[in-house]
Amino acid sequence: MTKPDFNDRMLSLGLARVSEAAALASAKLIGRGDEKAADQAAVNAMREQLNKLDIAGVVVIGEGERDEAPMLFIGEEVGSGNGPGVDIALDPLEGTTLTAKDMPNALTVIAMGPRGSMLHAPDVYMDKLAIGPGFKEGVVTLAMSPAERVSALAAAKGCSTEDITVCVLDRPRHADTIAEIRSTGAAIRLITDGDVAGVMHCAEAATTGIDMYMGSGGAPEGVLAAAALKCMGGQMFGKLLFRNDDERARASKAGITNFDRVYTRDDMVTSDVIFAATGVTDGSLLAGIKREPGFLTAETILMRSKTGSVRRMTYRNPV
Ligand code: FBP
Repeated sequence: MTKPDFNDRMLSLGLARVSEAAALASAKLIGRGDEKAADQAAVNAMREQLNKLDIAGVVVIGEGERDEAPMLFIGEEVGSGNGPGVDIALDPLEGTTLTAKDMPNALTVIAMGPRGSMLHAPDVYMDKLAIGPGFKEGVVTLAMSPAERVSALAAAKGCSTEDITVCVLDRPRHADTIAEIRSTGAAIRLITDGDVAGVMHCAEAATTGIDMYMGSGGAPEGVLAAAALKCMGGQMFGKLLFRNDDERARASKAGITNFDRVYTRDDMVTSDVIFAATGVTDGSLLAGIKREPGFLTAETILMRSKTGSVRRMTYRNPV
């Protein structure tokens, strides 16, 4: 029997349930100082909900390779098996430290598309650059220096470089980038973790105050961010960064042959996908889990790239 097609409309509510379940499960671990326990709770809940969906799913971006992650590892088959063949990219808890320390913008994240729709990114770093919608393609590029990107974006926006805010992960490896951005007069929003949210912030610049994201972070998170921007609008570029032969071997194993390739958003996510993220801690995109006597409340963003629809849903869960 042939498998049904990927019906993004029908599957999207199921996807929201998956990300909600992961966020609700990690709620009791917010601010408890235990990253591992928070991540495990989210992983267990995400997998359990995913297995309730009528899909023949394969995890392409997950918790790690088969030998290092017992659940939601790359290549794991998920879902009931009765339904369309789909690829799944997930991060059950994006911002484990943010959750453990009760700091802003921890999310649960999942994207789904037809088989072959998402880059099988190895667990290496990726140099990332993102801006929101409404700009000419290639107005900023990875080939430009950080200062050139700020100037180009300011010119395209018709504002001064001082009116641009760039989001960057606060890491010693970004010291030169940060200094160069500051030399243009632009502002920097430094984040301690969570670059999927960092990139998504660019798509809602008027609300979040972030115009551009740049710097290196996890490549798997890069694909998830590309899936989000494909739904919200905006440009993203990513280039894999290799520190040693082991990382190059990981990339080869994932089927990557050109190690110098610059991936655009649509190279990373090649066909229409659906994307859901639920706030764990309060952030500028989503409210975090709210605990009140008798129930928990979760806010989820649910998006479809085919239509560009962006829904925010509030779920009240009796406990
Ligand atoms: P975890 O949730 O797995 O801790 O990852 C958070 C994160 O900040 C990602 O958002 C980002 O891509 C990556 O870690 C950055 O890696 P590093 O901490 O090595 O700079």
